[in-house]
Amino acid sequence: MIDVPAVMLLDGTSMPRLGLGTWPMDDAQATRAVSEALGMGYRLIDTAAAYGNEAGVGEGIAAAGVPREEIFVTTKLRGAQQGYAEALAAGEESRKRLGVDVIDLYLIHWPLPQVGRYLDSWRAMIELRERGVVRSIGVSNFTPPQIEHLVAETGVRPVVNQIELHPDFSQPELRSWHAEQGIVTEAWSPLGRTRNLGRPEIEEIAAAHGRSPAQIALRWHVQLDDVPIPKSANPERMRENLDVFDFELSEEEMARLDGLDRGARQGGDPDRHEEF
Ligand code: A2P
Repeated sequence: MIDVPAVMLLDGTSMPRLGLGTWPMDDAQATRAVSEALGMGYRLIDTAAAYGNEAGVGEGIAAAGVPREEIFVTTKLRGAQQGYAEALAAGEESRKRLGVDVIDLYLIHWPLPQVGRYLDSWRAMIELRERGVVRSIGVSNFTPPQIEHLVAETGVRPVVNQIELHPDFSQPELRSWHAEQGIVTEAWSPLGRTRNLGRPEIEEIAAAHGRSPAQIALRWHVQLDDVPIPKSANPERMRENLDVFDFELSEEEMARLDGLDRGARQGGDPDRHEEF
């Protein structure tokens, strides 16, 4: 069993430093993957209403037999339910589908500036926290001006911004802005959907440590102080991805990996992407 260290959040809670991503699993795949992951030591599970697998994730949690308080479940508000009343209802619905007492971390999935409701949604997230439906609140795919807008209007800062982040797209400016603000950076597609992994620098460092390219990428994330959530539905790769807490990359290796950034975003642009 691998013991995953924790990172502190602004609101005094903490979250595991690495977790399991569940997109694009369906309910049945999510149930199997989540219960297997919890059995090997994963304690952070990431899903979203838009993935359509919250019920499956919940069944996996129930099946694993791990005490609920050891598990940190994240889900996200889908675009179609942005708005104050809509988001209040959405939070309750997600909690019900997951079958949990409280959602550990609830994120606004995409800002959708063209819809113009993320501030109303944020006010609902604050209310959901006050009602005890969710414990911590944050955002995903937000830019600094969008986060500043939330803070200016409500005085409440997101504890996490979950963003696309991998060696080809390492977002150094956004990460250092998060660090200044005390916001934890969570990384989706931390392996760049594997497109990064064949780069010779990663393969060389992997060979030097007797580790896989995925483990090198994930260890780089951990040493950058972000929280990666690699998706795998394969037990061997799930285990491999978790097993990154017993070796260290040197400063020189970290610098080489930092140097791989080529601004190669694979997913949506936060200012334009539409997700409902
Ligand atoms: P699979 O589910 O078959 O393991 P990301 O999290 O960056 O979006 O990457 C997810 C993709 O990477 C999935 O296709 C997943 O496939 C694959 N993957 C996950 N872990 C590993 C690994 N350790 N080595 C190679 N591929 C991996």
